[in-house]
Amino acid sequence: HTDSQGLAGEDGVRRRDFINIAAVSFAGVGAVAVVIPLVDQMNPSADVLALASTEVDLTAIQPGQAIKTTFRAQPLFVRHLTEKEIAEADKVDAGGLRDPQTLAERTVDGKKQWLVTMGVCTHLGCVPLGAGEGENKGEFGGYFCPCHGSHYDTAARIRKGPAPKNLEVPKFAFTSDTAILVG
Ligand code: FES
Repeated sequence: HTDSQGLAGEDGVRRRDFINIAAVSFAGVGAVAVVIPLVDQMNPSADVLALASTEVDLTAIQPGQAIKTTFRAQPLFVRHLTEKEIAEADKVDAGGLRDPQTLAERTVDGKKQWLVTMGVCTHLGCVPLGAGEGENKGEFGGYFCPCHGSHYDTAARIRKGPAPKNLEVPKFAFTSDTAILVG
């Protein structure tokens, strides 16, 4: 009697193993089928990536709003700061920061309201959340990285959490009052 119970138990285990293995294989096949064409399309040669610049039309971005686009296949944030956000960034003693930079040093002369940064956390590369976006628990009014809790202020400078550097400001220039060219 004990033996037959033992066998039934083993059978049950084998059946569960099979179901688990079948589920994993199925997921694997699905992922491969979907990912390969995407990678193919999104993988231009290194030369093309090195030259590519991104033009951003600023007309529709109101104060307090931001857009997410891409620059050289990475997320790029363009944020239109409000007067209050500019004041908050300016009142900070930049010299005491982990990565000391003023808002003026991170923006173009006379256009402090346009904050252009890569959307890549300088800790391990997650995409931070913007002010008012999703589960943003940021304590400094700017971006918040949900992966390990890095808090960036309204000038996207690191203020708390594991990230070592501010969100990177890429090279960019205004091509008119309402457009920028990044890269
Ligand atoms: Fe952003 Fe770790 S990747 S906090």
